[in-house]
Amino acid sequence: MTALAGRLALVTGASRGIGAATAAAFAGAGARVIRVARSLAQGAAEGPYDIRCDLTDSAEVAALAVRVVEAHGPPDIVVSNAGGFLLRALESTTIEEFDRQLAANLRAPFAVARGFLPPMRSAGRGAFITVGSVADHTGFPENAAYAASKYGVRGLHETLVAEYRGSGLRLTLVSPGPTDTAIWDPFDPDRRPGFPPRDAMLRPSDVADAILYVASRPPHVHVDWLRLGPV
Ligand SMILES: NC(=O)c1ccc[n+]([C@@H]2O[C@H](COP(=O)([O-])OP(=O)(O)OC[C@H]3O[C@@H](n4cnc5c(N)ncnc54)[C@H](OP(=O)(O)O)[C@@H]3O)[C@@H](O)[C@H]2O)c1
Repeated sequence: MTALAGRLALVTGASRGIGAATAAAFAGAGARVIRVARSLAQGAAEGPYDIRCDLTDSAEVAALAVRVVEAHGPPDIVVSNAGGFLLRALESTTIEEFDRQLAANLRAPFAVARGFLPPMRSAGRGAFITVGSVADHTGFPENAAYAASKYGVRGLHETLVAEYRGSGLRLTLVSPGPTDTAIWDPFDPDRRPGFPPRDAMLRPSDVADAILYVASRPPHVHVDWLRLGPV
């Protein structure tokens, strides 16, 4: 029997990178996986599938949750992973760019939690895993907007742990360090002094393994916060 046999898992930001690796790891562990992102082709209506959704649109997120719960019941596992990255000094960051970071990395995870945690609470079980970042607890230059969003998501996580204590739900924050995905493409870390080269970063599968570890703990074990990074 595989670790997640028969479980229903929804992974946001699963069109590439950490989310795609997590969806693949979950499927390999026997889960029925629903992948969510803007660029995925819409799947069939029966059975697990891909759903196209812009998570910065709160009406779309609410409709996503209703659609999934009506079709399958509350997911056993939600991985709130989708996000974006801005590497820019404060003085070159516009207010609009700041708003976009918060919309993708904080408002969207709030909407995902708002949509899925109530039905998961009614079911009295489930794992809700948020992907934060090393930048959710450490300040780096050129990270003001990104860190504000990720520190915010850690605050959201800690608050929800307190709100859902005793509900049967287990909430986890997974905070990876630099990981070699397309999120780095605009910034070319291999040629940027002070940044780890891509081949020294974590691989998406490393983070997926950590998320799978969290999701496959027995029901009496709660991993509150898991931090990982390259050596
Ligand atoms: N890579 C790193 O070094 C690193 C380190 C620490 C934490 N993280 C975090 O890990 C998470 C995944 O990052 P990644 O490195 O895997 O990045 P990635 O390869 O760029 O993937 C980002 C994913 O998020 C989705 N997404 C972005 N905005 C969305 C929106 N508005 N609605 C729906 N989906 C959206 C993208 O899909 P579409 O474009 O198809 O919508 C894509 O599937 C992010 O939260 C990031 O902050 C990454």
